[in-house]
Parts: sequence; structure tokens; C-alpha cells
Amino acid sequence: MNTQTVAQAAELLRAGQVCAFPTETVYGLGGDATNADAVLSIYETKGRPRFNPLIMHCADLAMAETLAEFSPLARRLAALWPGSLTIVLPAKPNNGLADVATAGLDTVGLRVPDHPVALELLRAVGRPLAAPSANPSGKLSPTTAQQVWNGFGGRVPVLDGGACRAGLESTIIRVEGDRLVQLRAGALAREEIEAALGVAVDVAEKGSAIASPGMMASHYAPNAQIRLDAVPHAGEAYLAFGRSRSFEGPMRNLSEAGDLREAAQNLFSMLHELDAVGAGMIAVAPIPHVGLGEAINDRLARAAAPRGG
Ligand code: TXA
Ligand code: MG
Repeated sequence: MNTQTVAQAAELLRAGQVCAFPTETVYGLGGDATNADAVLSIYETKGRPRFNPLIMHCADLAMAETLAEFSPLARRLAALWPGSLTIVLPAKPNNGLADVATAGLDTVGLRVPDHPVALELLRAVGRPLAAPSANPSGKLSPTTAQQVWNGFGGRVPVLDGGACRAGLESTIIRVEGDRLVQLRAGALAREEIEAALGVAVDVAEKGSAIASPGMMASHYAPNAQIRLDAVPHAGEAYLAFGRSRSFEGPMRNLSEAGDLREAAQNLFSMLHELDAVGAGMIAVAPIPHVGLGEAINDRLARAAAPRGG
């Protein structure tokens, strides 16, 4: 694997090239969000449908405020930055973003990542970076530089910042007047946001257009099939959680201690690893639906969903 320094990555990005970079959630495939060609290269590299808008990564709140209208409630949410939280807000007119980055919507998804390397890169580039997860569309999100490198067959430059701390994508919250609506469960548990703000967070109805433009049921698909809430059979691979039965075949445990934070951090990596042993089926143990379990179960359901084409 061949990696870039922050200065090299910043130079590539300022020149309109794409470059993968670390965040605390997952690796992002970055491009200058103000440069339509750069953003189109992101879509092409991932094989991503154009109707699925990207998240704009900002160095700080000041940069984010050049892109969107922040209500007082939005500002209270933004106080959780840097962090694993994407806020969807009305876009400011003439904010300089390439139309393709927002897929033509009049809202924009923003986040300030909580990772020193990402923040250093954003400051060096001096512009917002559009960045989806750095995986070919529909595949597992990468939590290490090596997974990014392998996923794109070495064709994408990578800035290596080590393994991602959270291991799951950011939580996406849309601010609608005085309402907060969660569009995607993620690395910041809904309960934590509610506790920090003292405001209830509603959950967008599954499959509603607003819930996620272009968010597909089948996603995060490993090559193997997935069975949920399962007891493993011979010949399968097993993804356990908590104290588990012994199992003869290939097996990983998301968290022997039954800790959901540890499980989130391990989820994509362990799915990658079990996939690599070539099992046709991965049986996954039940995982509680509380706290980060909401996001973990969401990703597992997508990984298990029937796949089109
Ligand atoms: O943790 C993360 O969020 C990672 C890292 C790299 O920051 N990024 C990530 O991006 O997961 P991506 O592109 O895989 O997911 C972005 C999601 C999509 O489901 C998209 O539909 C939604 O954000 N989104 C972006 N802008 C939106 C908007 N204006 N309204 C509603 N949803 C939006
Ligand atoms: Mg993704």
C-alpha cells in the first residue's frame, strides 16, 4: 500500500483529484465540494448513483456556516461538533458548492469530523470536502486505509490515519423548524443527542423519500449472504456478540463483553474478515436494539437485504 502525507493529499484535493482520508467514523473518499469535476470523479470512482447526495466535511463551524442556514436549534446541535453527527440544513444560495454534490437538493448535509488528521487536511485544503464512505457503492464501508486500498484495487490515493475509532458512519439529523429528525442511525446514539440537547429526536419513517434520498435497502453488502438473529450451522461463518457458544467454523466476536461501542467499532472489519475466509453464509447473533445497537442493527439489516442485480 502506497500512502499520502497530509500535504500531498491536500495538494491532490486542491487540484481537483480525489483522495481517501480517515475520519473517526469510517474512511471518506474526498473531493473538493466546490469543484464539479472533482465531485463527479467521486461518483465515478464509487460507481454511486448520482441522486444520492454527499456529506460536506468542514474544518469548523465557521466553514459550515458559509454553506447553510443555521437556526438557533441547528447551532445547539452543531455544539456537538467535532463529532459523528451530520446535520441536514437549508442550503445558502450561492454557497459555492457544486450542484452535483448535493444532487440538486435545496438542503445540505454537513459535518465536522472528530479526527486530528481529517481536521488538519480540511484546514490545509481550506475548502469543504465532499466525502462518501470510501468503498465501491453497495459494499462494506472501510475502517482502515488497507481496506480502502484493496476495495479500489490500489487505484485511489489514501491518507492513512490508522483504524477508525467509531467504525460506523455518522448519525444524520435533519433540522425541521423546532423538530429534529434522524434520517440515519449512526455512531452517535440518538439517546446521547437527546440527553445533550434536552430535545426529543424523531425517527424518519423507513423508506420515506426524505429519510434518505438514494439510501438503498441493500447496502454494505459483503460477498457472503447474511442471516440475522441466528444460531450458526456447520459450514457457515459466525459473527457472535457477548458470551457465546463455541463454534467450529470461522468466527469473530463483536464484543465478548457485550459492549455496543466495541461492537460498532468491530462491525465492518469483522464482516470484511469473515467475508475474506470465503464463507457463503455469515450467521449473526442477536444484538440489542438500544443505544448504538440501533445503528448496528440498521447496517446488519441492509447487509442482509435481498440484493438487486
Ligand atoms: O460517517 C460518515 O458520515 C461518512 C464519513 C466519510 O464522513 N460518510 C458517509 O457518507 O457515510 P455516505 O455518502 O456514505 O452517506 C451519506 C448519506 C447518504 O445516505 C445521503 O443520502 C445522506 O447522507 N444525505 C446527504 N445529504 C443529504 C441531504 N441533503 N438530505 C438528506 N440526506 C442526505
Ligand atoms: Mg456509504
